Amino acid sequence: MAISRENLPQHVAIIMDGNGRWAKQRGLKRTEGHKVGAEVFRNIAKYCSDLGIKHVTFYAFSTENWKRSKTEVTAIMNLFRKYLDEMQRRAEENEEAGYNIRFIGSREGMPKDIVKLMDTVEERSKDKSNTYVNLAVNYGGRAEIVESVKSIAEKVKNGTLKIEDITEDTVSAGIYTAGQPDPDLIIRPSGEYRLSNFLLWQSAYAEIYIDDVLWPDYKPEDLDRALEAYAKRNRRFGGV
Ligand code: FPP
Repeated sequence: MAISRENLPQHVAIIMDGNGRWAKQRGLKRTEGHKVGAEVFRNIAKYCSDLGIKHVTFYAFSTENWKRSKTEVTAIMNLFRKYLDEMQRRAEENEEAGYNIRFIGSREGMPKDIVKLMDTVEERSKDKSNTYVNLAVNYGGRAEIVESVKSIAEKVKNGTLKIEDITEDTVSAGIYTAGQPDPDLIIRPSGEYRLSNFLLWQSAYAEIYIDDVLWPDYKPEDLDRALEAYAKRNRRFGGV
């Protein structure tokens, strides 16, 4: 492993983009790209864990992705189902690896059986602490902030919280990644320069790295390159 362990980010977040283009380039159906993308997710999550990166977040399905064709949405849901089933079958292996797996995003609108599988996987891994793996499914950054604001409003309404006591930490406590550090590095493969509603609250001071590689082609060497670039950056958090 060539990558230096100095200046490693605590939290890396990745937008898994480019599956469709990858498939198109090969004359395959878009869903074939997602299939390969899911394998790459597994490999890269393991590589992050091997490197000692404590928190990793992957963007798999956004609240906007429901607009895609029914065939594509169904294929992605089937992939989740298959993947979650497999996770349960590999539960011992995952326990040994010490993965703490969380699904961030809204459970509303998701197929019931998938929600049940998500709950089971989360419950089984909740005491592990080697690597925290967040998979963003039916996730929207704005929706996440709205949920936090609603829970704050509820507390103000029932008198358990005073308006003057609301701070940034209060909002942070109500978002899906509560308790985890904000991402230090957000990687977007496939050459798009957008956050696409990903981790809007958490990305305030994140370094962003854009790569041309399409997600199904993404390799540990590509992550090394992003980590090397990150290690060289001078993060000032608004200071000088
Ligand atoms: C973005 O590429 C990818 C998605 C919207 C779906 C991502 C889903 C996976 C990687 C499968 C995840 C499954 C598991 C089990 C983790 P795109 O389709 O927008 O590509 P394009 O921009 O080239 O069209």
